[in-house]
Amino acid sequence: MIKTVAFHLQKGGVGKTTISGTLACQSALAGFKTLLVDVDPQGNASSWFLKNATKYELVDVIQGKCFWNDAVVEIPQIPNLFLLPTFGIGGNLKNYSETKLAEEPFVIQDLIAELSGAYDRIILDMSPGLGRLERAALIASDEVITPMTPEVFSLDGLEIFIDELDKIKKNLRSNVKHTKIVINSFDNRIKQHRDIYSAACTGVFSVFKIPVDPLFRKAQEAGMAPQVFKKYGKGLKASTIESFTALDLAIWR
Ligand SMILES: Nc1ncnc2c1ncn2[C@@H]1O[C@H](COP(=O)(O)OP(=O)(O)O)[C@@H](O)[C@H]1O
Ligand SMILES: [Mg+2]
Repeated sequence: MIKTVAFHLQKGGVGKTTISGTLACQSALAGFKTLLVDVDPQGNASSWFLKNATKYELVDVIQGKCFWNDAVVEIPQIPNLFLLPTFGIGGNLKNYSETKLAEEPFVIQDLIAELSGAYDRIILDMSPGLGRLERAALIASDEVITPMTPEVFSLDGLEIFIDELDKIKKNLRSNVKHTKIVINSFDNRIKQHRDIYSAACTGVFSVFKIPVDPLFRKAQEAGMAPQVFKKYGKGLKASTIESFTALDLAIWR
């Protein structure tokens, strides 16, 4: 059974935070006790859902400065959603991953094992890159899903990721599943988008599409779940809701 899912590609700006945060909301709104772990030193998922500063962050738990339940916060505006935050400003995850993490490649795996008894589902929002921090988070996951945007170099990026993941799995004896790709900001009217979609459908991967939807950014600014946020009476597009329902079903079934 899949319990911990990470969204990862070494590139930035492909929708890792948007998809992991929206999927976490989808799961929480459906009544599952869901933990979103912010494993990105930039802390974007945390600034999305947290209105006020909190005392502890993920790296404090990893370093034994507090217990995990001192750092996890319940998100009041989204029932069943919990966040293990990282502070983008003034946070210590970046420094830790550059100095101490090399000696402790399994710390995130150990932490997730401890957390998994307390939550129905765990979702990791990852940082771009394929360094120590991303490796440590990848091997802590049951499944990694690759988000990509339909751009010229995106298939190269996917190939690089597949190769690197293979090495990580061998070197760190991980069994993480990698069978899904999400093409984000997809527009069916654009030929290049359709071509990249076809090229990604090699038979090896299940390929999902998420349309361009300006409501994501607005919901992020408002600190809300995109599924319930409305601007001038309008919410997410029907096609966006359909995409997330399909992705959610495919992951947790
Ligand atoms: N499907 C989408 N439609 C419109 N905007 C999107 C979509 N996905 C992501 N965005 C926007 O693109 C930017 C980058 O997305 P983000 O999730 O932060 O990427 P990453 O975490 O991979 O760096 C954000 O401002 C986000 O609101
Ligand atoms: Mg991000």
